Formats: sequence, C-alpha cells, structure tokens
Amino acid sequence: MGLRDDVAKVLISESEIQARVAELGREINAAYTDDDRLLLVCVLKGAFMFLADLVRHLDIRHEIDFMEISSYGSGTTSSGVVRILLDLAQSIEGRHVLIVEDIIDSGRTLDYITRNFYTRGPASVRVCTLLSKPSRREIAVPLDFVGFEIPDEFVLGYGLDFAEEYRNLPFIGVLKEEIYAE
Ligand code: PRP
Repeated sequence: MGLRDDVAKVLISESEIQARVAELGREINAAYTDDDRLLLVCVLKGAFMFLADLVRHLDIRHEIDFMEISSYGSGTTSSGVVRILLDLAQSIEGRHVLIVEDIIDSGRTLDYITRNFYTRGPASVRVCTLLSKPSRREIAVPLDFVGFEIPDEFVLGYGLDFAEEYRNLPFIGVLKEEIYAE
C-alpha cells in the first residue's frame, strides 16, 4: 500500500495543475515589469511545490523569499491567531511583493500576513494562490491570481498535507474518509 492508495479521488490532475500554473505565470509576467523588481514570498510549507513550478514560467526579473506561519487552532480550521515561525530574510520596504499561497480557506492567515506586510512599507502587495475555497471565507481577502476555486473538501497533495504527509503527490486529491477518521 502506498500514499496514493489513501486517495479517494483526484480533484485536479497533474496535467490540469501544470496547464493552469503556466497560465498563472503568463498572467504574472503581464502584470509586472522588470523594473518592479518583484519579490515572490512563498508561504511555507504548503506553497513550496507551487512556487517551484510557477517560477519556471516567469520571464520577468524577480527574487524569491520564504515565510512560515503557524496557526493555532482546532483541527482543520485556523483560528486567525498566528505566529511567525520563519520571517523574511530581507526588508520589503518599497518593494512590489507577491504572496504565493497554496490555499485560501477562512482567509485568516492571509489577512494576518498582508496586514503585517503593510506595516513594513511595501510598494504593493498582491496575492497568488493555487486554490481558493470561497465557501469557507470568514474574512474578505482580495486575491489577484487564483488557480482554481474548489468546493469545501479536505484536499491534499501538490504541497498540501494531511498530518504533514502526502505533500509530494503531484495532483490535488481528496483523502479516503477512513484515513482521517482514524
Ligand atoms: C494553510 C495554507 C494557508 C492557510 C489557509 O497552511 O497554506 O496558509 O492554511 O487557511 P486559512 O485561509 O483558513 O487561514 P497550513 O496552516 O495548513 O500550514 P502548511 O502550509 O505548513 O501545511
């Protein structure tokens, strides 16, 4: 039995993801210029795979940095009380920042990050997320580049985990109920 056997269904296939990531890359290329010195901020851990694929489609000059956030909360919902586990290595003052996320659910994590960033005096802050679950939103957060809007199902793969595993799967899948009921 392997990790893939725990997946009940594939929600978004590897080829669908790759095609959409290429489109997002083109949208971002069109939205910025080389002079913007774009800084992509990958929110760990879930967005690592998305960032790695996305930057392969960027032609504009850019840099990347990483941030890791921990949300305290019960189970699958985030409480909005967040803690910075890893902060940016550099100042974003005067910089054009593009936050790269894997999924926006309640919106609380993103709301925290953007508020935090605006205190640092960036030139602009925009958001690119692979997935969005609009039906779960508790705080309205503007999203500039969205890969897929998905229903309220527990998804994993392509960076997203269940209990820190399954991040390696190249597709977005839904876990078998018996796995998360254990
Ligand atoms: C996920 C995701 C977002 C957040 C979205 O991170 O990467 O940061 O949850 O949820 P929200 O909109 O309800 O705040 P997670 O806490 O699972 O951490 P991980 O990326 O390290 O797995």
